[in-house]
Amino acid sequence: MEQKDDIILQVRDLSVSYGHIKALREVNLEVRKGEIVVLVGSNGAGKTSIMETILGVNTPDAGQVTFEGRDITKNPVDKNVRGGMTLVPEGRGVFATMSVLDNLLLGAHHELKTAGKKLNFVFESFPVLGVRKNQLAGTLSGGERQMLAIARALMSTPRMIMVDEPSIGLAPIVVNSIFDILVNLNKEGYSILLSEQNVYKALKCAHRGYVLETGRVIKEGRAEDLLNDPAIREAYLGA
Ligand SMILES: Nc1ncnc2c1ncn2[C@@H]1O[C@H](COP(=O)(O)OP(=O)(O)OP(=O)(O)O)[C@@H](O)[C@H]1O
Ligand SMILES: [Mg+2]
Repeated sequence: MEQKDDIILQVRDLSVSYGHIKALREVNLEVRKGEIVVLVGSNGAGKTSIMETILGVNTPDAGQVTFEGRDITKNPVDKNVRGGMTLVPEGRGVFATMSVLDNLLLGAHHELKTAGKKLNFVFESFPVLGVRKNQLAGTLSGGERQMLAIARALMSTPRMIMVDEPSIGLAPIVVNSIFDILVNLNKEGYSILLSEQNVYKALKCAHRGYVLETGRVIKEGRAEDLLNDPAIREAYLGA
């Protein structure tokens, strides 16, 4: 099928189930190069399932995923990571009993030759991780751990980063700094697919959004239009 050049990720009619539980039903979405796209939805709506299926963790029942024009629907995770996408998982997935440095190196395990260069880049962007590189990751604050999870994702030199609920469990001021990091990465050229229950903040920094309910996309549009949508304001913004 034909695809526009400015689209980095295209998901078509994606359906996923876990046993007899249908988690996603004919989901269609896209991320254009240079965009921040947010998935909005309450618990169980399907946000994590979308990201994990794109990455290759789950095998879809039906549908297609293309990345930079290539069909990646059946690719395993490591092939997709080498191919330029990565996921910062829900709950951060940081290994508490390993050092900050070793957590970072895991992010580049498929190309350790160039890991040194990437470490320098990551420590420049996140100086606090450089200071704490020999510390166990379990001793970091929640915000620092989220930073480490994002930095580890960058170690694989992705062009698109998926970030699953980065703000969960963080104090409001720390949430702001995590969103600032994502906006800055986006300005540096990374395309971002984000999921958030902090809908207001996410829509404020995103270009577009998709609203999910029980595994379906029920609404999509420009972030500012979604922010002004009365039904969304009522359901997700408490207004
Ligand atoms: N491994 C699994 N086994 C069975 N059901 C699952 C599994 N993972 C997810 N589900 C179900 O699939 C649906 C979508 O879940 P998913 O985790 O994608 O939602 P989510 O939007 O990420 O929710 P949350 O905001 O709580 O993280 C839910 O009904 C969930 O119970
Ligand atoms: Mg989730």
